Amino acid sequence: MKLVNFTKSLSQLWLGANLSQLKTRKEDHNKQYTGKKIPLGVTFALTFVCNFECSHCGADIDNKRANEDASTKIILDTLDEIKKLGGKRVSFTGGEPLVRKGIKEILEKASENKFYISVVSNGWHVERHLKQLNKVDLLILSLDGTEEIHDFIRRKKGSYKKVIDSIKTAKKNGIPVLVNTTVMNTNADNLKELSKVLKDLEVFWTIDLFNDLDIVKDWQHGSNISRPTNKLLEEVVKIGKENPYLSNSFNYLNSVKERDLEKEVESSICFAGIGYCVISADGKMYPCFPAQNDSEFEGMDLKKMSFKRAFDEMPLYRKNCDTCDMICHKEMNSLYSFKPDAIFKGLKYLYKSKVANFFRLNKRV
Ligand SMILES: C[S@@+](CC[C@H](N)C(=O)[O-])C[C@H]1O[C@@H](n2cnc3c(N)ncnc32)[C@H](O)[C@@H]1O
Ligand code: SF4
Ligand code: SF4
Repeated sequence: MKLVNFTKSLSQLWLGANLSQLKTRKEDHNKQYTGKKIPLGVTFALTFVCNFECSHCGADIDNKRANEDASTKIILDTLDEIKKLGGKRVSFTGGEPLVRKGIKEILEKASENKFYISVVSNGWHVERHLKQLNKVDLLILSLDGTEEIHDFIRRKKGSYKKVIDSIKTAKKNGIPVLVNTTVMNTNADNLKELSKVLKDLEVFWTIDLFNDLDIVKDWQHGSNISRPTNKLLEEVVKIGKENPYLSNSFNYLNSVKERDLEKEVESSICFAGIGYCVISADGKMYPCFPAQNDSEFEGMDLKKMSFKRAFDEMPLYRKNCDTCDMICHKEMNSLYSFKPDAIFKGLKYLYKSKVANFFRLNKRV
């Protein structure tokens, strides 16, 4: 029944977006959407705080801004509102979501509302939060290489070991787990080795491509992180395709390759601000992360207005969409556009997490 309702909502969005001609190509950038908006998926960057200082980090983090994090009450109320508006999926990232105050209540509320819940983490505090993580449908752990490379990129000794231990702990406790690797110049030629480690661990895997964002922190000066060369990128995609646990859609993999090879990329419809949105650590709503990183785009402040009003009134972000390759948004757009490969991968996830949940529930009884 849930799947039927979800498909119905998707069809409404798809029709509206198609009628409004909201393709990501340049000539459609000024078009506006007139159909029904449904916040099917919402991603919360829960905090400005992080216990790491990774050399590639493009997230809006600053430990001095801890007191600017939106209150737990705002987040809990927002979760209730999203449910009422037909939301199905919530994702928690950051900063590091597992160091945020109130994470326990937030996961409990998301679980009460029966959302499909995912948490993205650097893996350092998984053991400590095991009880709450039992409520999530997907724990996404970031792993950027084998030991030496990962610890170098993450600038934290012992972080590789922590992620590997966290993968094993999550699996042992029936928590569906997936590894995400950000591909950059520093790790591209290490991915063959990493792929082998992940195959042995039988863990699902996604790769995303390093985004060269304007947010540069003090510790990042001179770190020389960049996108991999075209040749390395082609190799990475090949290695990925050979790993049966790789969960990116081929659509994403091809677009990554094509963008770097400067070929014409097939324009797709983007549902940012129509079918999904992101909430920044200080409680402002944006259609997507590129909009959040654009100082000219003003977020809708949830401290001053309801989620519904913010979502209804938020303008779309249509800038440089023809070159946007943010994995979280691209994969959503493929799914919302009924791309067969993305649907297949989505169902596979769902099936895996449902099976794991089933055993987990049985264990609890
Ligand atoms: C911003 S982090 C937040 C959650 C958590 N702290 C972590 O590292 O998993 C979410 C994901 O974004 C990735 N990421 C960070 N900076 C990036 C960048 N500049 N380009 C692409 N991905 C990036 C991270 O590697 C991680 O997998
Ligand atoms: S990538 Fe994640 S763990 Fe690393 S500094 Fe950024 S938010 Fe923290
Ligand atoms: S996610 Fe944002 S930047 Fe990317 S295509 Fe959509 S509206 Fe454009």
